[in-house]
Amino acid sequence: MLNKKSVEDIDVSHKKVLVRCDFNVPLDKNTGEITSDKRIVESLKTIKYLIEHNAKVILCSHIGKTGQNKSLEKVSVRLSELLGNQVIFIKEIFSDEAKKVIESINDGEVVLLENTRMFEEEEKNDEEFAKKLASFAEIFVNDAFGSAHRAHASTEGVTHFLPSVCGFLIKKEIDALDGGINNPKRPLVAIVGGSKVSSKIDVLNSLLDKVDTLLIGGAMTYTFIKAQGGRIGNSLCEDDKLQVAADILNKGLEKEVRILLPVDNVVAKEMSENADTIITNINEVPDGYMGLDIGPKTIELYKQEIEVANTVVWNGPVGVFEVNKFAKGTEEIARAMSNSKAVTIIGGGDSAAAVEKFGLEEKMSHVSTGGGASLEFMEGKKLPGIEALLDK
Ligand code: 3PG
Repeated sequence: MLNKKSVEDIDVSHKKVLVRCDFNVPLDKNTGEITSDKRIVESLKTIKYLIEHNAKVILCSHIGKTGQNKSLEKVSVRLSELLGNQVIFIKEIFSDEAKKVIESINDGEVVLLENTRMFEEEEKNDEEFAKKLASFAEIFVNDAFGSAHRAHASTEGVTHFLPSVCGFLIKKEIDALDGGINNPKRPLVAIVGGSKVSSKIDVLNSLLDKVDTLLIGGAMTYTFIKAQGGRIGNSLCEDDKLQVAADILNKGLEKEVRILLPVDNVVAKEMSENADTIITNINEVPDGYMGLDIGPKTIELYKQEIEVANTVVWNGPVGVFEVNKFAKGTEEIARAMSNSKAVTIIGGGDSAAAVEKFGLEEKMSHVSTGGGASLEFMEGKKLPGIEALLDK
């Protein structure tokens, strides 16, 4: 449970409230249109609460990386549609014009400031920059779960200058992730996929202290298989992580956590829709071929584990789901989770994108809006954007 003050624990009426959202939404490369508005939709509860409680709402967020200079203008249009209310978009955050607009906002009005990453001070958590942002408001609400693992000026820096509380999204995320991982209905099954052992070492080690069963998928499988002496052909492998993979398997034995690796896989010479595929045992990938998805026997095996679980936590796809030919394993895992009686928690990022692609979001207990943030939470790390908020 989150032990931080929330927007409900502070009097916001007639006050200027700076709200950090995570509006880092995907934009179509050609048209610039928003391709998923999930993060905007998820921010509505806090924004509506503030409007209803007569706050003057000043929203801010990053989008993209520093130097890309992406604009939040499309977000302000979508947000206006979703709220049924005009959101005032401020392009030049520190202009005299912006100052005038912010000073004259009425109760219940909403403004959105342009991308905080237009300024390189943002990621440096520059004190002066944070102070300037904070000077717009009397209260800070952090609702950007997806950015909570970043100690940036608009997530952590501003908390040094304003009474700071969380919004409903951060509360929902932490309650779901914490409940699922630290206080689960057992058996707890975790599915961890993705391409690299190196980026999942911390989460694997942390989950081994918590789960009953760990199902491994994705290209990182092959580092484990090679560590066990299997033939992996041209599959992706981190040769400098073979010992790490072996240590993880040994830790599983010590802790009596069942670690399941795929038993078969879909392999091809290239990662394309036109590639010819064959199914082989996981440790018998022919030379010239690479493993790109889990095979039918593994799908059945993993589905059985999901069926008996009471909580399932998923982080990382089990195959290259972006290419339809190699999407079956990831889709079947998502479908099995969506049909199960268990509490189902999807870490953000690629697994959330997969669940969205298969239209199964509504059938999961919780789909996180944070990729890096949910991973760091699962690794057992403290999230600076949340740590900095007022305790209950
Ligand atoms: C995300 O998309 O995971 C968050 O918006 C954080 O973005 P960042 O990794 O660029 O900080």
